[in-house]
Amino acid sequence: MWWFFSFEIMMSSNVRFKHFGRTVNHVRSVFAARNVGRYQSSKTENSPDSNPLLKYLTMKIKATGPITVAEYMREVLTNPFKGYYMHHDMLGEHGDFVTSPEISQIFGELIGIWCISEWISGGKSKSLNLVELGPGRGSLMGDILRVFNQFQYLLNTCDISIHLVEVSPKLSEIQALNLTEKSTEAKHEDTSSCYKTGITKTGLPINWYYHIQDVPSGYTFYIAHEFFDALPIHKLQKMQDEWREILIDVDPDIPQKLRFVLGSSCSLIAKTFVQADEKRNHVEVCPEAAIIIQKLANQLTKYGGAALIADYGHSGDKEDTFRGFRSHQLHNVLLNPGTADLTADVDFNFLKTMAGNTVSFFGPITQHEFLKNMGINLRLKVLMENAKDDTMQKHLMQSYDVLMNPDKMGKRFQFFSIFPPGRLEQTSKNKYPLAGFTELEMS
Ligand SMILES: C[S@@+](CC[C@H](N)C(=O)[O-])C[C@H]1O[C@@H](n2cnc3c(N)ncnc32)[C@H](O)[C@@H]1O
Repeated sequence: MWWFFSFEIMMSSNVRFKHFGRTVNHVRSVFAARNVGRYQSSKTENSPDSNPLLKYLTMKIKATGPITVAEYMREVLTNPFKGYYMHHDMLGEHGDFVTSPEISQIFGELIGIWCISEWISGGKSKSLNLVELGPGRGSLMGDILRVFNQFQYLLNTCDISIHLVEVSPKLSEIQALNLTEKSTEAKHEDTSSCYKTGITKTGLPINWYYHIQDVPSGYTFYIAHEFFDALPIHKLQKMQDEWREILIDVDPDIPQKLRFVLGSSCSLIAKTFVQADEKRNHVEVCPEAAIIIQKLANQLTKYGGAALIADYGHSGDKEDTFRGFRSHQLHNVLLNPGTADLTADVDFNFLKTMAGNTVSFFGPITQHEFLKNMGINLRLKVLMENAKDDTMQKHLMQSYDVLMNPDKMGKRFQFFSIFPPGRLEQTSKNKYPLAGFTELEMS
């Protein structure tokens, strides 16, 4: 059972502390990022002369008409030349936002334990693809692999390979630096679908891809932390009996200013993605998330494995969640495109509907519940006992508080999982209780 082997890993004190210096400042940053709803003023930079992406978008809109919010978001975040994610590191104290894996090593360690637990429950497959979508700096994967390295039985009996789906050249470079001794860019003539390849510091093969469709098939664990919230959404507004799409246009009175307008005809996106019994008057739908989740569901059904998705989100009850973050402050989404993160809450009901009925789901449950069920309190206790001084202990307590406090990340972030057929029955017979989603506190 998962809690026996995870107990051993939890108690191990030789799991390294990562850069301790980062924790205190990040704790402050997170608090500001998620709770202070103040817009940052950045009017002076919002001109096409100083912002090439704004220039490109205004020219495009003038030439072909208003664009959808999804098209705007895609250009702003992943335009190859000036997209927000493409050429800089936005994570951490000096960036725009911080994420749980950057706050504490415990977060990734518990996800590593979750993977091992599911590998055991799933019948100890002889091979395992570990896929992470949108790995940021690679910190979460680094922490997972350190836990794998402590569990020799897994390494000796299972052929493991690591696959990262990352669109950003800059972040993939940082991931390679953090996770490998050496990596190689794929050559033009290579037939492989990956764009970079290497060996992790713990000796496992690792490959990078632009799209999930390129990742090889097989028994797979998919991990996605704060990935789905970065995918482009369409915004739809109900007007009397029909759904109209919210579009982005150039303000006719102020040429460099973008504004929201209402599309004139009934939206095709709404016909495809909005359910007949929808009660809300405003919805956000994400076709890219639908395609990715269908791919996961098909792969899990055919080859087995599991998916763990963690993000801020809701169960189909929120309306307008589209927002921007810059320097840990809320940022007007239409100002200075390319200089701030754009994000929208993940609609877990939408993901369930799009995944179809060949797979089973657990969650969403809050981050607080998931980490508590995974034994965060015991892990914290061990790390506190082994901390070398008061400062370290203080850092540990502060980062624990940010992850777990319902007023910070504890409630807002949710965990959701997808499994192939059969896993649900095992759980209900209590043969293999599902780690993280079943209440089992070890302290
Ligand atoms: C908000 S960051 C989260 C990073 C990391 N998971 C963490 O929690 O620290 C989003 C990540 O997804 C990547 N990303 C965004 N859109 C993507 C896309 N369409 N395809 C692949 N990766 C994408 C970004 O480059 C970045 O690595």
